[in-house]
Amino acid sequence: MILCANFKANKTRQETRAYMAVVESFVAANEIEDTVMVFPPFTALEHLSRNVLIGVQNAYPAQNGAYTGEITLEQLDEFGIKTILIGHSERRHVLGETQEQIAAKFRFFAENGFVIIYCVGEPIEVRELGDKALMQYVDAQFEGIDCNYTDLIIAYEPVWAIGTGLTPTTDQIVTMHSALRAKTSAPLLYGGSVKVDNAQSIMELDNVDGVLVGSASLGANDFCEMIALAAELKQV
Ligand code: PGA
Repeated sequence: MILCANFKANKTRQETRAYMAVVESFVAANEIEDTVMVFPPFTALEHLSRNVLIGVQNAYPAQNGAYTGEITLEQLDEFGIKTILIGHSERRHVLGETQEQIAAKFRFFAENGFVIIYCVGEPIEVRELGDKALMQYVDAQFEGIDCNYTDLIIAYEPVWAIGTGLTPTTDQIVTMHSALRAKTSAPLLYGGSVKVDNAQSIMELDNVDGVLVGSASLGANDFCEMIALAAELKQV
C-alpha cells in the first residue's frame, strides 16, 4: 500500500519536525514495508526523512527563473525532493490551474525523473450528470498526461469528497478505479475524507493501492494508525 499525508497549508516547520519524528519512529519500530509519503508545506522542507518519503504539493516547471512566488527544480534539488503532487483539486479549482498548465508541469517533472502523484476527480455537478459525463470529465483530465510514465501514481479524489466528510460509496470507488485500471498499470490511490474509521475498508477494495489523506493525516498518531491498518491488511 501507499499512504500519503497531504498537509496542504498546515503546520509550521517545528510542527512538521515533531510530526516526522513520530511517523518515522513508528515506521521503523513496526518494520513497515508499505510506502509512506508526507507532503509538508514548502517552508517545512529539509532533509528530514529517513524511511518516509517527502514530496512537494506543487512546484513550477522550470529549472529556476523569473516566476515570482513560485519554487522550481533548483530549490527542490537542494532538499533532495523527487516526489510531487500534480493536478490536485485545490490547484485546479481554487488556484485555477488549467489542464494545459498541469500537462506542462507533468512533462517537466517526468523529464526530471520525479515520482508523480497525479490527481483527478470530478465536482459534484458532474457526478450528478451520470456515468458517461463523469468518465468524459475524468478522461479530459488525462489530456497531455503519459499514463505509461514509469514513476506514476494516480490519485482519484472526487472534489466533493475532499475535506467534506463525504465519501463515495464502495461501488462508486470500485467503478472509478476499475476504469482507471483500464487506462494505466500505475498504482491507484483513493483520496477524499479518508480517516482512521474508513481507511481500512477503502484500502481493501479492488484496484485501490493506497490512500491520499488530507485533514485526517494532520495528527501524527492518526496517520500512524492508518499505516498500521494497511500493514494489517497485508497479513490477511
Ligand atoms: P481530505 O483531503 O482528506 O481532507 O478530504 C484529501 C486531499 O485533498 O488530498
